[in-house]
Amino acid sequence: MIVGSINEDRKIESRVAITPDNVKKFIGLGLKVLVEKNYAQHLGIDDNEYVSSGAEISEDKKKILTNSNFILQFNLPSEENLNSLKENQNLIGVFNPYNNKEIISGLSKKKINVFSLELLPRITRAQSMDILSSQANLAGYKAVVEAFANFKKAIPMMMTAAGTIPAAKILVVGAGVAGLQAIATAKRMGGIVFATDVRMSSKEQVESLGGKFLTVEGAENLETSGGYAKETSNEFKKKQEDLLSDTLKKIDIVICTALIPGKKAPVIIKESMIKNMQPGSIIYDLAAVQGGNTAVTKADEEVDLNGVKIMGEKNILNKLPASASNLYSKNIFNFVSNLYDKEKKDVNINLEDEIIKETLVK
Ligand code: NAI
Repeated sequence: MIVGSINEDRKIESRVAITPDNVKKFIGLGLKVLVEKNYAQHLGIDDNEYVSSGAEISEDKKKILTNSNFILQFNLPSEENLNSLKENQNLIGVFNPYNNKEIISGLSKKKINVFSLELLPRITRAQSMDILSSQANLAGYKAVVEAFANFKKAIPMMMTAAGTIPAAKILVVGAGVAGLQAIATAKRMGGIVFATDVRMSSKEQVESLGGKFLTVEGAENLETSGGYAKETSNEFKKKQEDLLSDTLKKIDIVICTALIPGKKAPVIIKESMIKNMQPGSIIYDLAAVQGGNTAVTKADEEVDLNGVKIMGEKNILNKLPASASNLYSKNIFNFVSNLYDKEKKDVNINLEDEIIKETLVK
């Protein structure tokens, strides 16, 4: 059986699904690996590295798409490429099934199995496949690095003969996977870090990283049984606004990460709140692609509001694609290992397995 992958559209995606390290692992499982010519050249990984790990290289996209039992990608391939697929092939990636409903249901009608990994259940057994966590962790780190690089002042406190530079104050909105990494990164750089979340269970995690947790008074239980945030009431929103309005006046850098699965990102920072911030402050909005946590965020654009810079990108992971590919390829390898029956040398779509059932999109 063959695991294959074609080049992503490099204008939108720099990550790759298979790294040379993973080629060896797939071969260990008894699978062959086939990737397109210049597959990871842009990451400084030559085709020769794939070949010496045991993969075959092909210039022929169609050959890869028609011969592979497992097609491993990041984004959904183009319509033209999808047309090459046929019954019983397994297409695996991060396909945004809410936005690509029609295309995926067309594939499913052709009996092509489409697995979208953002649907993985957050259970212990799926942790090694959890692409949301592996990518969010890196995104949280990179958002801080980007924001700090744009900030015109130093981050740590410095006492010099010429005077003292105060430490920068950072607020992290949403303390999930990305937010916790943002807190850890900002602390390592010497910032004073505050964080807030609607899930009270995140308070202890924020504090264990040295952050100060800002509790919105009267927070009802806003955590689902799956560990995600619920949408908040108007009363809660008002209380959160009051607390953050006050806090933002003294904050230099804000990292926004708040999300609600399957919904538009909650707008937490209003225009009036930004207008009260000091000029020169930075807001890096990781929620930009889902609409943003501020009222003025524009994905892939820098907005200037009274001297406050609001930044956010569609795909921040394109800024550290080598590390992101490294983790993603391990996640996807673990997913394929669970789908492939080594004894029978066949794909086993066991719908009693929660991991398989939840990720298979129809
Ligand atoms: P996410 O990306 O959906 O959301 C990010 C954060 O924003 C969350 O902490 C959420 O509570 C917060 N948020 C949402 N609305 C907000 C609002 N209005 N104001 C302030 N904060 C708001 O979540 P993520 O990062 O994917 O993690 C969510 C949960 O999943 C966490 O409890 C995490 O520990 C858990 N998890 C469990 C895993 C497992 O395998 N058991 C793996 C990874 C995460």
